Amino acid sequence: MDSSLAISGGPRLSNREWPRWPQPGDRALKSLEDVLTSGRWTISCAYQGRDSYERQFASAFADYCGSAMCVPISTGTASLAIALEACGVGAGDEVIVPGLSWVASASAVLGINAVPVLVDVDPATYCLDPAATEAAITERTRAITVVHAYSAVADLDALLDIARRHGLPLIEDCAHAHGAGFRGRPVGAHGAAGVFSMQGSKLLTCGEGGALVTDDADVALRAEHLRADGRVVRRGPVGVGEMELEETGRMMGSNACLSEFHAAVLLDQLELLDGQNARRTRAADHLTDRLSELGMTAQATAPGTTARAYYRYLVRLPDEVLAVAPVERFAHALTAELGFAVTQTHRPLNDNPLNRPSSRRRFATDARYLERVDPSRFDLPAAKRAHESVVSFSHEVLLAPLDAIDDIARAFRKVLDNVREVSR
Ligand SMILES: Cc1ncc(COP(=O)(O)O)c(C=O)c1O
Repeated sequence: MDSSLAISGGPRLSNREWPRWPQPGDRALKSLEDVLTSGRWTISCAYQGRDSYERQFASAFADYCGSAMCVPISTGTASLAIALEACGVGAGDEVIVPGLSWVASASAVLGINAVPVLVDVDPATYCLDPAATEAAITERTRAITVVHAYSAVADLDALLDIARRHGLPLIEDCAHAHGAGFRGRPVGAHGAAGVFSMQGSKLLTCGEGGALVTDDADVALRAEHLRADGRVVRRGPVGVGEMELEETGRMMGSNACLSEFHAAVLLDQLELLDGQNARRTRAADHLTDRLSELGMTAQATAPGTTARAYYRYLVRLPDEVLAVAPVERFAHALTAELGFAVTQTHRPLNDNPLNRPSSRRRFATDARYLERVDPSRFDLPAAKRAHESVVSFSHEVLLAPLDAIDDIARAFRKVLDNVREVSR
């Protein structure tokens, strides 16, 4: 049998149809039709005599996160920027940001004229490193943002302690972690605010969407103003045909509302989330067992994690393999064997073409600001090493049956057995 690699023209290890994402549930079509005929496509249209889907989602998601309040928002990026501003961060303030993340971690900070301070990650969890965080705090620091990255929960014990000692709000970015838990409580509920992205690749999605959860009524009220042009949902009775959004003008905002269509889809998806997460975790545990037999190191999570949510499955290649085969070639070889995308992790934000504030005139307020937001001034060795040693794939693959997960382990073995082909 021809055992050469698919990248060298050999047969693919698997010809399976892998699960696709997103996957609609049973309720979505009916709810979408209901929105279409309801006469109200967003909360900034007149009240129609019943709870909007947006209000229903806010209540269901607050419950899901064990938080007192949820403010639905148009995107994860807007949610992060709004959380920062709602916690009092403004122009020129420094915000701690993990150096290994999607560009939104930095762009949301820049979007409120603040300064992202890129901090290195822990070499095992790839989440914000507590010691590096504390070392980066200055008298200008006004907030810490932490991402529960890929499939890990960050070291919240240490980070909450640092935040408390320095009097800083900790904002949990849970864009990758819908349904994850720490010390028995959902992520997002531990700091001053938790933010979520519901963009199309996420574990809970409506195409584009976001949310902020918090127990702090002042933070929630400011977030409401910020996302609805200075308006909040009326607390008292509202009549049919009247505006449910009340113009208080207490804080200026802009429009980052979530439409009724998006909220309806999120309610449908929320019903499926726990079941899907359980399947993913089972498959990930199975794969980790198989891959550790091959000398691979799966992403760790912080002590205290009580539930993992696998947005991406990550595994580090052994040094002796990396000495022969660059990680991008190894990932490419796996993609060719399996028929789904295996990729590197994010490019560190100090060396990422998407993170280039100097390309936008809006940041040219003065030369000193441009120097402060220049990402290349930061050193992120652990983030760099993760980018150069870890391969990853998306969560929907983990919804495949366990015999398909075994194919993934077999593909790693095949590429390892032929690693010299990868290096060419
Ligand atoms: C960690 C993280 N934060 C924030 C975001 C931004 O979310 P959105 O794309 O909904 O604006 C993303 C998006 O992928 C993300 O990965």
